[in-house]
Amino acid sequence: MPLDYANIYPERSRRRSEIIMENLENRIENREIFKNAPRTEPERQHYFIGQCRKSVKKRSEELGRPLFFRCVTFGCQMNARDSEKLEGILEAVGYRKTDSEEADFVIYNTCTVRENANLKVYGHLGQLGKAKKKQPWMKIALCGCMMQEPQVVEKLKKSYRFVDLIFGTHNIYKFAEYLAEVLARDEMVVEIWKDTDQIVENLPVDRKYPFKSGVNIMFGCNNFCSYCIVPYVRGRERSRRPEEILTEIRRLAQDGVVEIMLLGQNVNSYGKNLEQPMTFAQLLREVAKIDGIQRIRFMTSHPKDLSDELIEVMASEPKVCRHLHLPLQSGSSRILKQMNRRYTKEQYLDLVDRIRRAIPDISLTTDIIVGFPGETEEDFQETLDVVRRVCYDSAFTFQYSKRSGTPAAAMENQVPHEEVQRHFDQLLAEVQEIAREVCRRDEHTVQEVLVEGINEHDASLVSGRLSNNILVHFPGDASMIGTLQKVYLEESRGFYYMGRLA
Ligand code: 5AD
Ligand code: SF4
Repeated sequence: MPLDYANIYPERSRRRSEIIMENLENRIENREIFKNAPRTEPERQHYFIGQCRKSVKKRSEELGRPLFFRCVTFGCQMNARDSEKLEGILEAVGYRKTDSEEADFVIYNTCTVRENANLKVYGHLGQLGKAKKKQPWMKIALCGCMMQEPQVVEKLKKSYRFVDLIFGTHNIYKFAEYLAEVLARDEMVVEIWKDTDQIVENLPVDRKYPFKSGVNIMFGCNNFCSYCIVPYVRGRERSRRPEEILTEIRRLAQDGVVEIMLLGQNVNSYGKNLEQPMTFAQLLREVAKIDGIQRIRFMTSHPKDLSDELIEVMASEPKVCRHLHLPLQSGSSRILKQMNRRYTKEQYLDLVDRIRRAIPDISLTTDIIVGFPGETEEDFQETLDVVRRVCYDSAFTFQYSKRSGTPAAAMENQVPHEEVQRHFDQLLAEVQEIAREVCRRDEHTVQEVLVEGINEHDASLVSGRLSNNILVHFPGDASMIGTLQKVYLEESRGFYYMGRLA
């Protein structure tokens, strides 16, 4: 059963969003700064950015040094993009970025897709608690998917009192406002919303790379795969309006971005709930028209929604990269049904055939879960069979993790850990062996590489990616960063190539 937040916390409706937890009743509304705040977004957040700037400047003058922040990100590309937004705001209010956890403001953008993601956060928090004892002025914030779980927030409120700010996935755009609150008082500030239909545009973003960027096209997920907590913590699907997406990408292009990654939990169902519905394939065509954008990637595609129209656009539009991440999860039709994936092994294989026929040089990658409740040796063999037939360039393999509140958590026949481990090891070995072979396919050919940076181990080399996402290292210098170079791929070394300029 889905988590029934309504029974756990009394609800209160506020505009169109429901708040499932807050301790802002005694909000400092009476202070001038909150009284004067605009009611509309994003004006309200820009106003709070201004207020925070004053507090940060004052504190910095008192200390006689700049204030520093550290932002730690767990989880997927969506979280990575969210962190760029958090960092954009922290920089706009005057903090400077550092890699040290002894910073003045530390924020953890959390993930909860598997249990070990949660455990990592508690581990880090233990360390932060010790650091804060030495530097009591430190502010510690937590946000992201894990905060949408009521039992997590309860635990934090009880056992981690040194945390200053907790907010969730739906109200991330209000970060500047919460920051103003945290800088103005010493109590823990907690606000978690159950959902939202708001998408607030035009807030600051600090991009990690000057030449490539993620762009959210939709938020949330409606699929309710039975093992997955994402629909509960990220809410229902909401697509951004195409005009907003295209304007953002045009701006990025003007700013020197050549590669974009369109982001959503299930990009193939983009646009269904827009006032004027639009398909993902149509959106891709529009994005491809933007001058300056040379490569377009996207993540993630659900096989059940992948249309022929999309295959057609991928085949005919040279800017769309030759890479598709197509999560399989399991090769057993019986398990797929239990997972609520809504395709069978045969349908998946048929889809792969159609894609390969239209785009022969495409690289396919996937996600696979081992040890879903009730998975037998036979089911596992079906998964291996798909892996051997499809020959993925790479596969993220996961051991099933029980997420409370999801239907699978209540299923009987949870698989014993030793068996999961054995299958996992076997799958990983198989996936790696196949990948080593597949990744060789472009050896001794000339391909375009988008140079991403100087090689970490050898400063005479630069590193970049092929259209199909495989890494290439070749002699070069910093002037090439962010440019596309034609490179002769001399030698495949398993998962990457060594090359030279063609
Ligand atoms: N256990 C293990 N893996 C999971 N994933 C999602 N939920 C779980 C879970 N409960 C994996 C899926 C998904 C990827 C992002 O994480 O393979 O595609
Ligand atoms: Fe989770 Fe399935 Fe949605 Fe992906 S499509 S986020 S696995 S529920």
